[in-house]
Amino acid sequence: MGCQALLLLVFLSLGAAATLRPGLKTFGSLHLSANPTSNPAIANNYSVLYFEQKVDHFGFSDTRTFKQRYLIADKHWQKNGGSILLYTGNEGDIVWFSNNTGFMWDVAEELKAMLVFAEHRYYGESLPFGEDSFKDSQHLNFLSSEQALADFAELIRHLKKTIPGAESQPVIAIGGSYGGMLAAWFRMKYPHIVVGALAASAPIWQFEELTPCGVFMKIVTQDFRKSGPHCSESIRKSWGAINQLSSTSSGLQWLTNTLRLCRPLTSEDVPTLKGWITETWVNLAMVNYPYATNFLQPLPAWPIKACTEMVMPFCTNGVGDMFEPSLWDLEKFSDDCFNQWGVKPRPHWMTTLYGGKNISSHSNIVFSNGDLDPWSGGGVTKDISDTLVAIIIPDGAHHLDLRAHTAFDPSSVLLSRSLEVKHMKKWIADFYSNAKWQS
Ligand SMILES: *[C@@H]1O[C@H](CO)[C@@H](O)[C@H](O)[C@H]1NC(C)=O
Ligand SMILES: *[C@@H]1O[C@H](CO)[C@@H](O)[C@H](O)[C@H]1NC(C)=O
Repeated sequence: MGCQALLLLVFLSLGAAATLRPGLKTFGSLHLSANPTSNPAIANNYSVLYFEQKVDHFGFSDTRTFKQRYLIADKHWQKNGGSILLYTGNEGDIVWFSNNTGFMWDVAEELKAMLVFAEHRYYGESLPFGEDSFKDSQHLNFLSSEQALADFAELIRHLKKTIPGAESQPVIAIGGSYGGMLAAWFRMKYPHIVVGALAASAPIWQFEELTPCGVFMKIVTQDFRKSGPHCSESIRKSWGAINQLSSTSSGLQWLTNTLRLCRPLTSEDVPTLKGWITETWVNLAMVNYPYATNFLQPLPAWPIKACTEMVMPFCTNGVGDMFEPSLWDLEKFSDDCFNQWGVKPRPHWMTTLYGGKNISSHSNIVFSNGDLDPWSGGGVTKDISDTLVAIIIPDGAHHLDLRAHTAFDPSSVLLSRSLEVKHMKKWIADFYSNAKWQS
C-alpha cells in the first residue's frame, strides 16, 4: 500500500470512528475491509465445551470456581499415533482465535491431530465473576499469566482423563502474540504436559532491560520507510503540523472538519488525537499482510494486566523513529496504574518468573517472527540452542504464519510453516519413541 493511501485510510478511519474520548488508553480498532476470498472460513466444525476451573490455583482458602470455555475439533484426530494441538488462548474470544489460526486447521490432518482452543480467563465467556469480573482490582486479582497456564494444565489433564485414547498422546502448545508467549511459557513451566511449543510473534523479551524501549517504534518506522520514499518523513513532520494547527482555533476547526470528528476538537483532545493516529500507524505495521483482512486485535489491550506483571517499556526519540520524543517513565506509569486501578506494577516479576534471556535450559520451542512486525523487537530472533529455534519470516507481519494458507502467501511464509511442521513432527516422533522405550 502506498503512503498516500495509508494517510487516506487513517483519515477515513478516524472520520468514521472517532468520537474523541479523552483518556482513551486502549488501542482503537481499525476495520480494514475483509476480502472473503483471502480469509477462508475453515474453523466451522468444532464442539464448544466448558471446564470447571479454580479461580485461584495457588492459594488454598479460596474455593470458588468458574467455567472456562474451550473448543475441540477432532475430525482428523487418530487414536493411533495422533497428537493434540492446544491453542493457548490470549486476550479475546476464543472463537475469534480459532477463526484466525487457520494454520492449525490446515495441519490437523497431517499430524492426525485433535485441535483444542482454550479460552483465557477473563476473556470471551470465561469470566471468573461474570459481569463483575472487571469491577475492581479485587475481582481482577486472578488475571495473570500464571493462573492462565495453570488453567491450561488442568484442562489438558481433564481431557487426557476423559477422552479415551488421548492419555497416551503428545500435546503441542501453539499461540500467537501474547498467546505465543503463553505457549512458550507453558512448555517451560509444564514440560511434562506439552512436548513442545510454537510461539508465533511472541515478544517474551519486551520486558525490563531485556529489549531497548525504542526498538518497537523503530521497526514501525522502518516499515513505513519501505512503503515509499518520504513516507516516514511525512509522518514525522505531521506531528509538528498537528501541533501548529491545534494552537489556533481556526486550525482546530480545520482539523475537526478534515477528520470529520463527531465533536469539535479542543486543545485538550490533541494528545488523544495524536495517540490515536500513532496507534493506527502501529496497527498498520502489525497487520502488513499480503492480502486484505479484518484481523485486528492489537496486543496491548490489557488495561490492568499491564499494570501488574506485564510491564512493557516503550519509548521514542523522534530521530531513529518517526514519532514525537517520549521517554519511558516507570514511576509515572506506576502512579497512573495506582490512580486508575489501585495496583502497582511489578516490573521485575516477569524476568524472575520466566527467566528473561536465561532460558537455555529449556527445549522444544520454535519462536517465529515476521521481520516487519514491530513485536519482533522483543521476540527471540536467533537460535538459542538446537531445540530453542528461531524462524524469521522475511516480509512477514504479526504471526502471519498462524493464518490459514492462501494463494497470496509469499514463499517465505510457506517455508516457515513447513519448518514448523517439521519440528512438530519431530517432537511427536520423539514422544512416541520414548514411550516405547519406557514401556
Ligand atoms: C468465526 O467465524 C464464523 C464463520 O465465518 C463467524 O460466523 C463468526 O462470527 C466468527 N466468530 C468470531 C468471534 O470471530
Ligand atoms: C541471567 O544471567 C545473567 C548472566 O549470568 C545474570 O546477570 C542475570 O541476572 C540473569 N537473569 C535472571 C533473570 O536470572
